[in-house]
Amino acid sequence: MKGVVLAGGSGTRLHPLTRITNKHLLPIYDRPMISYAIEALVQAGITDIMLVSGGTHAGEFLRLLGNGHEHGIERLLYAYQDKPGGIAEALGLAERFVAGDSVLVMLADNIVERGFGHMVRAFEQQGGGARILLSEEEDPSHLRHLGVPAFDGEGRIERIVEKPDDPPSRYAVTGIYCYDPTVFEVIGTLEPSGRGELEITDVNNHYVRQGTMQYDVLEGFWGDAGESIDAYYAVNDFVRTHGANKG
Ligand code: DAU
Repeated sequence: MKGVVLAGGSGTRLHPLTRITNKHLLPIYDRPMISYAIEALVQAGITDIMLVSGGTHAGEFLRLLGNGHEHGIERLLYAYQDKPGGIAEALGLAERFVAGDSVLVMLADNIVERGFGHMVRAFEQQGGGARILLSEEEDPSHLRHLGVPAFDGEGRIERIVEKPDDPPSRYAVTGIYCYDPTVFEVIGTLEPSGRGELEITDVNNHYVRQGTMQYDVLEGFWGDAGESIDAYYAVNDFVRTHGANKG
Protein backbone atom coordinates (compact mmCIF):
# COMPACT_ATOMS: atom_id res chain seq x y z
CA MET A 1 0.00 0.00 0.00
CA LYS A 2 1.22 3.50 -0.87
CA GLY A 3 1.00 6.51 1.43
CA VAL A 4 0.11 10.07 0.47
CA VAL A 5 0.58 12.91 2.96
CA LEU A 6 -1.23 16.13 2.06
CA ALA A 7 0.44 19.34 3.17
CA GLY A 8 -0.86 21.94 0.70
CA GLY A 9 -3.74 24.34 1.21
CA SER A 10 -3.60 27.94 2.39
CA GLY A 11 -3.96 27.54 6.16
CA THR A 12 -6.09 30.69 6.37
CA ARG A 13 -7.50 29.72 9.76
CA LEU A 14 -4.00 30.08 11.21
CA HIS A 15 -3.26 33.48 9.64
CA PRO A 16 -1.01 35.40 10.17
CA LEU A 17 1.26 32.49 11.22
CA THR A 18 0.69 30.83 7.86
CA ARG A 19 1.52 33.99 5.93
CA ILE A 20 5.17 33.41 6.79
CA THR A 21 5.37 29.63 6.48
CA ASN A 22 3.45 26.50 5.48
CA LYS A 23 1.06 25.40 8.23
CA HIS A 24 2.60 21.93 8.37
CA LEU A 25 6.01 23.37 9.24
CA LEU A 26 4.70 25.10 12.38
CA PRO A 27 5.85 23.44 15.61
CA ILE A 28 3.83 20.89 17.51
CA TYR A 29 5.74 20.70 20.79
CA ASP A 30 9.32 19.89 19.75
CA ARG A 31 8.94 19.05 16.02
CA PRO A 32 7.45 20.48 12.84
CA MET A 33 3.82 19.35 12.42
CA ILE A 34 4.58 17.30 9.28
CA SER A 35 6.90 14.98 11.25
CA TYR A 36 3.98 13.46 13.13
CA ALA A 37 2.08 12.38 10.01
CA ILE A 38 5.24 10.90 8.51
CA GLU A 39 5.97 9.00 11.73
CA ALA A 40 2.37 7.73 11.90
CA LEU A 41 2.55 6.29 8.36
CA VAL A 42 5.90 4.61 8.97
CA GLN A 43 4.56 3.11 12.20
CA ALA A 44 1.57 1.75 10.27
CA GLY A 45 4.05 -0.02 7.96
CA ILE A 46 3.76 2.39 5.02
CA THR A 47 7.20 3.35 3.73
CA ASP A 48 6.53 4.25 0.08
CA ILE A 49 5.25 7.80 0.42
CA MET A 50 4.42 10.90 -1.64
CA LEU A 51 4.27 14.27 0.10
CA VAL A 52 2.07 16.87 -1.62
CA SER A 53 2.77 20.45 -0.58
CA GLY A 54 1.89 23.84 -2.02
CA GLY A 55 2.23 27.58 -1.53
CA THR A 56 5.45 29.05 -0.21
CA HIS A 57 8.24 27.27 1.66
CA ALA A 58 7.69 23.96 -0.14
CA GLY A 59 11.48 23.54 -0.29
CA GLU A 60 11.64 23.36 3.51
CA PHE A 61 9.98 19.93 3.42
CA LEU A 62 12.96 18.65 1.44
CA ARG A 63 15.34 20.24 3.89
CA LEU A 64 13.54 18.56 6.78
CA LEU A 65 12.82 15.13 5.31
CA GLY A 66 15.34 14.72 2.46
CA ASN A 67 15.06 11.26 0.93
CA GLY A 68 13.18 10.07 4.01
CA HIS A 69 15.64 7.34 4.97
CA GLU A 70 16.43 8.89 8.35
CA HIS A 71 12.71 8.70 9.10
CA GLY A 72 12.33 5.06 8.12
CA ILE A 73 10.91 5.82 4.67
CA GLU A 74 12.12 3.64 1.79
CA ARG A 75 11.03 5.98 -1.02
CA LEU A 76 9.86 9.55 -0.61
CA LEU A 77 8.53 11.49 -3.60
CA TYR A 78 7.33 15.08 -3.64
CA ALA A 79 4.52 16.76 -5.58
CA TYR A 80 3.50 20.42 -5.74
CA GLN A 81 -0.09 21.67 -5.86
CA ASP A 82 -0.25 24.98 -7.76
CA LYS A 83 -3.25 26.36 -5.90
CA PRO A 84 -5.35 25.08 -2.99
CA GLY A 85 -8.00 23.36 -5.10
CA GLY A 86 -9.07 20.95 -2.38
CA ILE A 87 -8.01 17.77 -0.64
CA ALA A 88 -9.31 15.56 -3.44
CA GLU A 89 -7.46 17.62 -6.05
CA ALA A 90 -4.23 17.31 -4.04
CA LEU A 91 -4.71 13.53 -3.86
CA GLY A 92 -5.26 13.45 -7.62
CA LEU A 93 -1.66 14.61 -8.09
CA ALA A 94 -0.50 11.27 -6.69
CA GLU A 95 -2.25 9.11 -9.32
CA ARG A 96 0.87 8.08 -11.21
CA PHE A 97 2.77 7.45 -7.98
CA VAL A 98 0.01 5.20 -6.61
CA ALA A 99 -0.04 3.40 -9.98
CA GLY A 100 -2.94 1.02 -9.47
CA ASP A 101 -2.08 0.18 -5.84
CA SER A 102 -4.28 0.98 -2.85
CA VAL A 103 -3.47 4.11 -0.88
CA LEU A 104 -3.56 5.49 2.64
CA VAL A 105 -4.05 9.26 2.69
CA MET A 106 -3.27 11.42 5.72
CA LEU A 107 -3.88 15.14 6.12
CA ALA A 108 -0.69 16.52 7.61
CA ASP A 109 -2.47 18.68 10.19
CA ASN A 110 -3.92 15.60 11.89
CA ILE A 111 -2.23 14.32 15.05
CA VAL A 112 -3.06 10.99 16.70
CA GLU A 113 -2.19 9.66 20.12
CA ARG A 114 -2.38 6.01 19.01
CA GLY A 115 -1.34 4.38 15.75
CA PHE A 116 -3.71 3.19 13.03
CA GLY A 117 -1.89 0.11 11.73
CA HIS A 118 -5.02 -1.91 12.60
CA MET A 119 -7.02 0.14 10.08
CA VAL A 120 -4.47 -0.49 7.33
CA ARG A 121 -4.53 -4.24 7.99
CA ALA A 122 -8.35 -4.28 8.09
CA PHE A 123 -8.46 -2.44 4.75
CA GLU A 124 -6.09 -4.97 3.21
CA GLN A 125 -8.59 -7.69 4.18
CA GLN A 126 -11.59 -5.67 2.98
CA GLY A 127 -11.24 -6.40 -0.72
CA GLY A 128 -11.55 -2.87 -2.14
CA GLY A 129 -13.68 0.18 -1.53
CA ALA A 130 -12.74 2.72 1.13
CA ARG A 131 -12.18 2.84 4.86
CA ILE A 132 -12.14 5.89 7.12
CA LEU A 133 -11.17 6.53 10.70
CA LEU A 134 -13.69 8.21 13.01
CA SER A 135 -13.07 9.92 16.32
CA GLU A 136 -15.72 10.48 18.98
CA GLU A 137 -15.97 14.15 19.88
CA GLU A 138 -17.54 15.44 23.08
CA ASP A 139 -17.84 19.03 21.93
CA PRO A 140 -20.28 19.59 19.01
CA SER A 141 -18.69 22.98 18.27
CA HIS A 142 -15.70 21.05 16.84
CA LEU A 143 -17.98 18.92 14.69
CA ARG A 144 -19.31 21.98 12.90
CA HIS A 145 -15.81 22.45 11.41
CA LEU A 146 -15.37 18.85 10.30
CA GLY A 147 -16.90 16.02 8.28
CA VAL A 148 -19.53 14.13 10.31
CA PRO A 149 -21.10 10.74 9.48
CA ALA A 150 -24.79 9.97 9.78
CA PHE A 151 -25.53 6.32 10.63
CA ASP A 152 -28.43 4.04 9.78
CA GLY A 153 -30.06 1.88 12.46
CA GLU A 154 -27.43 -0.84 11.97
CA GLY A 155 -24.35 1.28 12.51
CA ARG A 156 -23.54 1.71 8.82
CA ILE A 157 -22.61 5.14 7.51
CA GLU A 158 -25.46 6.39 5.34
CA ARG A 159 -23.85 9.73 4.40
CA ILE A 160 -21.14 12.14 5.47
CA VAL A 161 -21.99 15.79 5.96
CA GLU A 162 -19.20 18.36 5.62
CA LYS A 163 -19.18 21.09 8.28
CA PRO A 164 -22.80 20.57 9.40
CA ASP A 165 -24.71 23.27 11.32
CA ASP A 166 -26.52 20.43 13.06
CA PRO A 167 -24.10 17.46 13.39
CA PRO A 168 -25.91 14.15 12.72
CA SER A 169 -23.68 12.16 15.15
CA ARG A 170 -20.91 12.66 17.71
CA TYR A 171 -18.20 11.34 15.42
CA ALA A 172 -15.70 13.32 13.38
CA VAL A 173 -14.30 12.00 10.13
CA THR A 174 -10.56 12.26 10.69
CA GLY A 175 -8.19 13.05 7.85
CA ILE A 176 -6.99 9.46 7.56
CA TYR A 177 -8.47 7.51 4.66
CA CYS A 178 -7.81 4.24 2.79
CA TYR A 179 -8.88 3.86 -0.85
CA ASP A 180 -8.72 1.26 -3.56
CA PRO A 181 -7.27 2.32 -6.94
CA THR A 182 -10.68 3.47 -8.27
CA VAL A 183 -10.35 6.62 -6.14
CA PHE A 184 -8.67 8.42 -9.03
CA GLU A 185 -11.62 7.72 -11.33
CA VAL A 186 -13.92 9.07 -8.62
CA ILE A 187 -11.84 12.26 -8.32
CA GLY A 188 -12.14 12.68 -12.10
CA THR A 189 -15.95 12.92 -11.79
CA LEU A 190 -16.03 15.59 -9.04
CA GLU A 191 -17.28 19.16 -9.46
CA PRO A 192 -15.90 21.98 -7.29
CA SER A 193 -17.98 22.68 -4.17
CA GLY A 194 -19.36 26.05 -3.09
CA ARG A 195 -15.92 26.94 -1.74
CA GLY A 196 -14.34 26.10 -5.11
CA GLU A 197 -12.60 22.90 -3.96
CA LEU A 198 -12.73 19.22 -4.91
CA GLU A 199 -13.98 17.79 -1.63
CA ILE A 200 -12.77 14.57 -0.05
CA THR A 201 -16.24 14.22 1.49
CA ASP A 202 -17.68 13.88 -2.04
CA VAL A 203 -15.17 11.07 -2.68
CA ASN A 204 -16.18 9.37 0.57
CA ASN A 205 -19.90 9.72 -0.17
CA HIS A 206 -19.32 7.99 -3.50
CA TYR A 207 -18.07 4.90 -1.64
CA VAL A 208 -20.94 5.20 0.88
CA ARG A 209 -23.47 5.16 -1.98
CA GLN A 210 -21.65 2.22 -3.56
CA GLY A 211 -21.90 0.30 -0.24
CA THR A 212 -18.13 -0.22 0.02
CA MET A 213 -17.31 2.26 2.80
CA GLN A 214 -16.15 0.78 6.12
CA TYR A 215 -14.85 2.56 9.19
CA ASP A 216 -12.89 2.16 12.40
CA VAL A 217 -13.12 4.30 15.52
CA LEU A 218 -9.81 5.68 16.71
CA GLU A 219 -8.80 5.13 20.31
CA GLY A 220 -7.16 7.95 22.22
CA PHE A 221 -6.72 11.57 21.28
CA TRP A 222 -7.17 12.92 17.75
CA GLY A 223 -6.65 16.54 16.83
CA ASP A 224 -6.94 18.69 13.70
CA ALA A 225 -4.25 21.28 14.43
CA GLY A 226 -5.42 23.42 11.50
CA GLU A 227 -9.00 23.81 12.70
CA SER A 228 -8.37 27.07 14.59
CA ILE A 229 -5.63 28.76 16.58
CA ASP A 230 -7.19 27.36 19.76
CA ALA A 231 -7.23 23.83 18.31
CA TYR A 232 -3.58 24.30 17.29
CA TYR A 233 -2.63 25.13 20.89
CA ALA A 234 -4.84 22.37 22.31
CA VAL A 235 -2.99 19.84 20.12
CA ASN A 236 0.35 21.30 21.22
CA ASP A 237 -0.64 21.03 24.88
CA PHE A 238 -1.80 17.45 24.44
CA VAL A 239 1.36 16.31 22.67
CA ARG A 240 3.60 18.08 25.14
CA THR A 241 1.92 16.33 28.06
CA HIS A 242 1.03 12.92 26.61
CA GLY A 243 3.03 12.44 23.40
CA ALA A 244 1.75 11.18 20.04
CA ASN A 245 1.96 8.12 17.77
CA LYS A 246 2.16 5.74 20.70
CA GLY A 247 2.06 2.25 19.19
O1 DAU B 1 -9.06 17.08 9.66
C1 DAU B 1 -10.22 16.39 9.31
C2 DAU B 1 -11.11 17.17 8.38
O2 DAU B 1 -10.31 17.53 7.23
C3 DAU B 1 -12.33 16.33 7.95
O3 DAU B 1 -13.19 16.14 9.08
C4 DAU B 1 -13.10 17.03 6.85
O4 DAU B 1 -14.12 16.19 6.40
C5 DAU B 1 -12.16 17.36 5.68
O5 DAU B 1 -12.85 18.08 4.67
C6 DAU B 1 -11.00 18.19 6.17
O6 DAU B 1 -11.53 19.44 6.62
P1 DAU B 1 -10.64 20.74 6.82
O7 DAU B 1 -11.51 21.94 6.75
O8 DAU B 1 -9.82 20.56 8.07
O9 DAU B 1 -9.66 20.72 5.57
P2 DAU B 1 -8.53 21.76 5.22
O10 DAU B 1 -9.01 22.65 4.12
O11 DAU B 1 -8.04 22.43 6.48
O12 DAU B 1 -7.37 20.84 4.67
C7 DAU B 1 -6.81 19.85 5.51
C8 DAU B 1 -5.45 19.46 5.00
O13 DAU B 1 -5.52 19.03 3.64
C9 DAU B 1 -4.44 20.59 5.02
O14 DAU B 1 -3.77 20.57 6.26
C10 DAU B 1 -3.55 20.30 3.85
C11 DAU B 1 -4.40 19.48 2.89
N1 DAU B 1 -4.84 20.25 1.72
C12 DAU B 1 -5.97 21.01 1.77
C13 DAU B 1 -6.40 21.72 0.67
C14 DAU B 1 -7.67 22.56 0.72
C15 DAU B 1 -4.09 20.19 0.57
O15 DAU B 1 -3.04 19.50 0.54
N2 DAU B 1 -4.51 20.90 -0.53
C16 DAU B 1 -5.64 21.66 -0.54
O16 DAU B 1 -5.99 22.28 -1.59
